[in-house]
Amino acid sequence: MARKKLIAGNWKMNGLLADGIDLAKNVAGGVKAMGKPQCEFLVCPPFTLLTSVKKALRGAKVALGAQDCHMAEKGAHTGDISPLMLKDLGCSYVILGHSERRADHGETDAIVADKAVAAHKAGLKTVICIGETLEQREAGKAVEICRNQILGSVPADSTAVDTVIAYEPVWAIGTGKVPTTQDVEEVHLAVRKVLAQKLGKSTAGKMRILYGGSVKPSNAKELLSLPDVDGALIGGASLKAEDFLAIAKNSEC
Ligand code: PGA
Repeated sequence: MARKKLIAGNWKMNGLLADGIDLAKNVAGGVKAMGKPQCEFLVCPPFTLLTSVKKALRGAKVALGAQDCHMAEKGAHTGDISPLMLKDLGCSYVILGHSERRADHGETDAIVADKAVAAHKAGLKTVICIGETLEQREAGKAVEICRNQILGSVPADSTAVDTVIAYEPVWAIGTGKVPTTQDVEEVHLAVRKVLAQKLGKSTAGKMRILYGGSVKPSNAKELLSLPDVDGALIGGASLKAEDFLAIAKNSEC
């Protein structure tokens, strides 16, 4: 069955109030102008912009997501944000296990899995990120690393409705470097296979696997037309509404 492509923007730690509202309004306007797009859209601003972006997106078919959450519902966790709080603000998605969180905050697969369980329980959909470093790729271990990250980070009761996987080679993030289409396809196929082992063939067949890492308007078509690539997680290029929308248009959304 056809998987609806997801075009997701990860704004990372970018945007003050005025820029964020402006960007969200431009994305909303562009998506509205597309009429009935074939893709689903998602933007994930920093926590500080969630409420304003939610308002700016009103009336447009663009979902709101956060970039991380805690694994507890509430409690003594200074500086953290719970999945329930995100749900309360109108988020429907949360990105988990991004390589920048794994690197900057020591997030392990087990932590990502616990966060995903909590997010699903709160009614949020998760975009669970995996991906190898350059060293691992050069050692021929890309597939093995991604397989292990899937086994460790994706909860056993995940469904194709509540979970999206994002394959983001760490060395391709923000660098302008992109793996070959063969390499992307090889990892996506391997990921689908391990999802089938873990969650069953039917769930794996329906679950979306996004590609992320230096996606831009000029390479979107090539990457997003691969049979096992079900959308994109876009960092840098999601900060310009024009580019974000052009990626979607070039991907036949
Ligand atoms: P990039 O980031 O598009 O800037 O490479 C992607 C991501 O980290 O999600």
